[in-house]
Amino acid sequence: MFVRALATLAYLVPCLCKVYEDVTQLPGLSYDFVIVGGGTAGNVVANRLTENPNFSVLVLEAGVSNEGVIDSIVPFFFQNLLTPNIYEWNYTTVPQPGLNGRNVGNPRDGMVYTRGSADDYDRFAEVTGDAGWSWDRLLPYFFKNEKWTPPVDHHDTRGQYNPAFHSTNGINSVSLTASNWPIFSRHVIEASKELPDEWPFNLDMNSGKPLGLGWLQMTIGGGMRSTSATSYLGPEFIRRKNLHVLLRAQVSKLVGSSHANGKLTFAGVQFAQGGALFTAKAVKEIILSAGSVGTPGLLLHSGIGDQRALTDLGISTLLDLPSVGRNATDHPVFSLGWTVNSNQTLDSISQNATRFDEAFAQWNRSHTGPFSAGGTTHLAWARLDSQLASNNFTDPSAGPNSPHIEVAFTMPHCLKLAGSTGGTAGQPCVSAGIVVLNPVSRGSVTINSSNPFDSPIIDAGFLQSDVDVFTGREAIKKVLKLFKAPTWRDYIIAPIEDLENLSDEELDEHIRNSASTFFYLIGTAAMSARDARYGVVDPDLLVKGASRLRIIDASVFPFAVSGHTQAATYAIAERGEFLFL
Ligand SMILES: Cc1cc2nc3c(=O)[nH]c(=O)nc-3n(C[C@H](O)[C@H](O)[C@H](O)COP(=O)(O)OP(=O)(O)OC[C@H]3O[C@@H](n4cnc5c(N)ncnc54)[C@H](O)[C@@H]3O)c2cc1C
Ligand SMILES: *[C@@H]1O[C@H](CO)[C@@H](O)[C@H](O)[C@H]1NC(C)=O
Ligand SMILES: *[C@@H]1O[C@H](CO)[C@@H](O)[C@H](O)[C@H]1NC(C)=O
Ligand SMILES: *[C@@H]1O[C@H](CO)[C@@H](O)[C@H](O)[C@H]1NC(C)=O
Ligand SMILES: *[C@@H]1O[C@H](CO)[C@@H](O)[C@H](O)[C@H]1NC(C)=O
Ligand SMILES: *[C@@H]1O[C@H](CO)[C@@H](O)[C@H](O)[C@H]1NC(C)=O
Ligand SMILES: *[C@@H]1O[C@H](CO)[C@@H](O)[C@H](O)[C@H]1NC(C)=O
Ligand SMILES: *[C@@H]1O[C@H](CO)[C@@H](O)[C@H](O)[C@H]1NC(C)=O
Ligand SMILES: *[C@@H]1O[C@H](CO)[C@@H](O)[C@H](O)[C@H]1NC(C)=O
Ligand SMILES: *[C@@H]1O[C@H](CO)[C@@H](O)[C@H](O)[C@H]1NC(C)=O
Repeated sequence: MFVRALATLAYLVPCLCKVYEDVTQLPGLSYDFVIVGGGTAGNVVANRLTENPNFSVLVLEAGVSNEGVIDSIVPFFFQNLLTPNIYEWNYTTVPQPGLNGRNVGNPRDGMVYTRGSADDYDRFAEVTGDAGWSWDRLLPYFFKNEKWTPPVDHHDTRGQYNPAFHSTNGINSVSLTASNWPIFSRHVIEASKELPDEWPFNLDMNSGKPLGLGWLQMTIGGGMRSTSATSYLGPEFIRRKNLHVLLRAQVSKLVGSSHANGKLTFAGVQFAQGGALFTAKAVKEIILSAGSVGTPGLLLHSGIGDQRALTDLGISTLLDLPSVGRNATDHPVFSLGWTVNSNQTLDSISQNATRFDEAFAQWNRSHTGPFSAGGTTHLAWARLDSQLASNNFTDPSAGPNSPHIEVAFTMPHCLKLAGSTGGTAGQPCVSAGIVVLNPVSRGSVTINSSNPFDSPIIDAGFLQSDVDVFTGREAIKKVLKLFKAPTWRDYIIAPIEDLENLSDEELDEHIRNSASTFFYLIGTAAMSARDARYGVVDPDLLVKGASRLRIIDASVFPFAVSGHTQAATYAIAERGEFLFL
């Protein structure tokens, strides 16, 4: 896991005029704003700041350009980016006791567009004391981000989403996927009709009320991946004279510290390129958008963190902020699979050279066909109220309209999650990814050396808490029932792993042996109320005790949202109004 956000690396701008790969090409090294990290959030901030022609902005991104890199353009090829390659940081977690000592590596997912529940954001507002983070106040920022786009096959989308909750004039493309898997889709929708109490159909899971089962929305436009790099740094923006992006520039620390009005401040950042070190000066502000691993790592190497831990490493503490890197939260994910009586599956294309080439040729011609999306067709969201209550667990969710679990119909494709025994070779199969959405367990991102180029130590803290394991176990029982709906009789042959008659203890063991991650780590530089005795940034995202230093990325979430994290990250980055005060 912990790739250098794939999303971020798609520098597919036809005119590379302002995306530099060599520091000597930059016109200078002093800017109003220096943004560390050209990922999901960083590119949004860069775009919005440079709407004001008076602001000069430099984005420093450690990653490489992948202009023209086919794996990051064709949605179907997302999985090719998940093995160690030049687009990745190649991080892994420390061995996870909650996963029986396994560590987890690769993530597996991409382009899923979900906002979470209104309750999630209302909880953000409550814990930060800033109503600006509530659902109602953030919705306009989701809209500023979203450019709703017709699916590439132009199928009739009535009954598959609610236009009232979408915007067609944002920046990043979102669409329903082309209906490439009609047989499977028909069964999923039919199952929800047959079990309307447990799995009601939800017209639009991005309305703030996600509970139920509905059609998947993805950050895809015109059959191509839409990322913050392709959209927010698109041709019409990157040509702005005041916007500069430098790739292959890894920031090592904040430099030039001083104090003003009792607050710590920095003159700029130090970064490495091609073995040499440089300093970029920030006249107005430094914005850290290096993600949930990179941001706490940079703070710690700059002397901002838990004083005892920093002293042990020989780093002098400039700001004692013990919450840096703590409260790391990630969603455990595991899957169930079935062999099926259908050749309309993803494997039947990826494993057959003839069909693979046909699909690739079709995508090359028109950006349509199976390569215009992945294997996921629907998502479902459910609560486990009675199960949690009868076991005396406190509800970990943000509120009654917020789900405890997600089911990803990541089919027709046999997901081979780490640790699972996988499908029978050659047999078509489908799978359901199950996500524990409100984990109570917490992990950390720490450092064990004073060298900023050493990898941080990542501990996702998976399944340390009983309620997380319990939620996973009850989710399995609930999903097994879903796949007993009559509609599946002509489709499903047999489960890949027989979990139906396992004891609770055996189910728990199964989860510990197979759980992994989509990599939605958040919370490592969390927001808290101005007067809170913990937290890293205040509700305006300024580092507590510092001035002119802000964090805008997924590390500031105070809690996980009950969904995939990119939409929330986009909305947080769009709400950068305080930057202009
Ligand atoms: C494989 C994968 C699949 C995902 N799929 C989905 C999905 O389907 N749906 C969804 O909603 N979310 C998904 N996510 C999660 C989503 O991508 C992240 O939550 C989101 O990108 C977080 O945005 P960010 O701006 O905080 O960090 P990032 O987008 O990770 O951006 C951080 C950037 O900073 C750069 N950086 C880090 N350190 C330094 C440094 N020292 N110097 C310079 N640059 C630095 C990194 O290279 C990176 O480009 C996925 C994540 C992964 C890893
Ligand atoms: C930019 O600066 C000029 C000159 O100071 C000022 O008149 C103008 O209003 C500024 N523009 C914005 C968008 O702030
Ligand atoms: C990750 O691993 C790949 C393949 O081994 C390598 O090419 C790449 O440079 C590594 N990335 C980093 C950041 O070390
Ligand atoms: C973690 O977050 C909780 C609130 O959710 C807070 O009470 C606690 O102090 C935080 N811990 C750290 C180390 O920041
Ligand atoms: C799947 O394809 C194989 C080989 O082409 C064929 O023998 C089999 O009958 C097909 N199965 C189904 C369910 O269509
Ligand atoms: C591969 O696909 C082609 C074209 O659909 C088909 O004719 C062939 O039988 C398939 N091969 C196998 C091994 O299923
Ligand atoms: C599709 O285009 C890619 C990239 O240009 C090329 O590598 C590939 O061979 C093409 N495939 C087919 C089947 O046309
Ligand atoms: C839940 O709490 C009640 C009241 O304290 C107790 O009677 C019951 O045994 C508890 N149930 C479980 C599963 O622990
Ligand atoms: C830090 O941790 C890494 C990974 O666990 C390990 O390889 C390395 O030796 C450690 N470094 C120090 C200085 O302890
Ligand atoms: C589970 O047990 C029930 C009742 O004993 C039985 O009918 C069913 O076949 C079993 N399931 C499997 C998959 O073995």
